[in-house]
Amino acid sequence: MTPACAEDFRLLAERRLPRFLFDYIDGGSYAEVTMRRNVADLERLQLRQRVLRDVSGVRLDTELLGRRVSMPLALAPIGLAGLYARRGEVQAARAAEAAGVPFILSASACCAIEEVAPAVREPLIFQLYMIKDRGFMEAMLDRARAAGVETLVMTVDLIMHSPRYRDMRSSLTGDQGFAARLKRAFEILRHPRWAWDVGVRGGPHVLGNFASAMPEGAGLAQFTAWVSRNFDPSISWDDLAWIKARWNGRLVLKGILDPDDARRAVEVGADAIVVSNHGGRQLDGAPSTIAALPAVVDAVDGRIEVLLDGGIRSGIDILRALALGAHGVLIGRAWAFALGARGGAGVSRMLEMLRQELLVAMALTGHSDIASVGPDALMRRDPDARRDSAEGRQ
Ligand code: GLV
Repeated sequence: MTPACAEDFRLLAERRLPRFLFDYIDGGSYAEVTMRRNVADLERLQLRQRVLRDVSGVRLDTELLGRRVSMPLALAPIGLAGLYARRGEVQAARAAEAAGVPFILSASACCAIEEVAPAVREPLIFQLYMIKDRGFMEAMLDRARAAGVETLVMTVDLIMHSPRYRDMRSSLTGDQGFAARLKRAFEILRHPRWAWDVGVRGGPHVLGNFASAMPEGAGLAQFTAWVSRNFDPSISWDDLAWIKARWNGRLVLKGILDPDDARRAVEVGADAIVVSNHGGRQLDGAPSTIAALPAVVDAVDGRIEVLLDGGIRSGIDILRALALGAHGVLIGRAWAFALGARGGAGVSRMLEMLRQELLVAMALTGHSDIASVGPDALMRRDPDARRDSAEGRQ
């Protein structure tokens, strides 16, 4: 199949990846209510078609996260991307750079920051969670600085893992006895192309950024267990002051859903926030990000950049987020599936599709540049849009 949209890459990735990896990317927490809401609430927003406005020169370039970008999106930090394709983080970072958009390297990447940073010319953006061991945190911040990172994304909604039924069923998490290992081995054998590309040629299969904290020869399961044990649920706004004191680069907080938290983020000196519910992978039952966005945008009142992730599957979705006040979006599953399906070439193709879709959506709503996209890109009398905004404002 020649992929034509994000869903096509999802189907291709489903064929290529062992089930436990596909489900890890595709799934959310508990009943996946919030995950579905992210997509459904975006889909419900109706666009306002405008005509005869000379849109022959539509431009998508803008400023985002401190740099000029070719369109208002960045690749979200995604764990384990080196398992979706061989040295996946390096491939995706290169594809993002070629497309003129930022790549955010996950702390839980397979490729360490020292492997990915030299593979691209632009400074990497690096994501981190608060780890209990503050010595490790300081060393990690030093490593990020040494690798040329200027922007740090602190994920604040992963203080503990929320159960994900699909990961339990696929034996990715839970009891790791003989039966679980056998099940995973069977899945790998069923996917020989993946087994050759990633299993045989794609090692080492570790979380590169955490290797210094692990005993020699530790396997992936030990790495992920270490990371889960070391999430710090005691993290509070004071700890952000601790980070600020040790990080003089740009600071982005990812995982803000509430206007009060957004105001607090501005007060502690964040340079940007990402309205995020972790792709519906953490607090199931939380609102969709697009429903939460308007109230957060109001609270921030233009003082810092507001980005959104969750449910973005097309350029049309990007326009919807911009219309409700986001400066840009992060895509997560969309690039993970493209990478799993076709490697770096898949990510490049996916980005090109998003660019085309956004361009057409801009043109058909009568916009020539990103700065001019606002609420009037949506149908004012759209009852769903009104209800979503009202919900977000509660
Ligand atoms: C990690 O951040 C995950 O959502 O799996």
